[in-house]
Amino acid sequence: MNPETKFTEELKRKAAYAAVKHVKDGFVVGLGSGSTAAYAIEALGERTKHENLRLLAVPTSYQAFLLAVKWGIAVTTLDEHPVIDVTIDGADQIDPKLNLIKGMGAALAREKIVASVSKQNVIIADESKKVAVLGENNHPVPVEVLPFAIAAVKRKIEAFGGRAFLREGKGKLGPVITDNGNAVIDVVFGVIRNAAELEKKLKMIPGVVETGLFIGLANTAYIGTPSKVEKL
Ligand code: A5P
Repeated sequence: MNPETKFTEELKRKAAYAAVKHVKDGFVVGLGSGSTAAYAIEALGERTKHENLRLLAVPTSYQAFLLAVKWGIAVTTLDEHPVIDVTIDGADQIDPKLNLIKGMGAALAREKIVASVSKQNVIIADESKKVAVLGENNHPVPVEVLPFAIAAVKRKIEAFGGRAFLREGKGKLGPVITDNGNAVIDVVFGVIRNAAELEKKLKMIPGVVETGLFIGLANTAYIGTPSKVEKL
């Protein structure tokens, strides 16, 4: 690992370890996906072992499921536990109101469903994820799409000003296929002035399963910085 990556990983880890204090014995916990959420799952695994916590976790992806198993955290389903006490998840961009872009790990649909039924949503990230306005630096908004509708959805999105790119896999030829069997289109809008409005417009397109705009869902964020963990 190069020194810069090692440094960023340390910031993610610090944020994750600070956030898991929101979890209490007996909680149903939503497990986020991505490299930062992985540290939170590790931290919960350690707490489960040392404090004999009785947790039940709803993983938001196959990645999160495998990590829960690795760290000895019991898993459950939304069918059994449709209300979650707290979810801890990462983000790709975080604005000052805690609106988010998520989904660079293609887990956005399950992440948003889990967030929508969580009493508390705690976001963890290193400081590079903080932005003044979502979409800064031409960061794309991931959109999960039914494979049948890829071309149709791309055309509709482009008609209202987004540049849409079908996400390609790494380590396998062809498009990324999500845990739900769908594709992901990454859409560059530039700076997004009204994310709530854009979210509604995207969701109205037939074939769109979910978008990576998480508006008004997060309650708290822990941001790892070199000197401290900032709580927002
Ligand atoms: C997964 O689909 C995403 O929403 C992740 O939570 C997000 O991409 C953050 O991932 P990292 O923690 O790996 O940056």
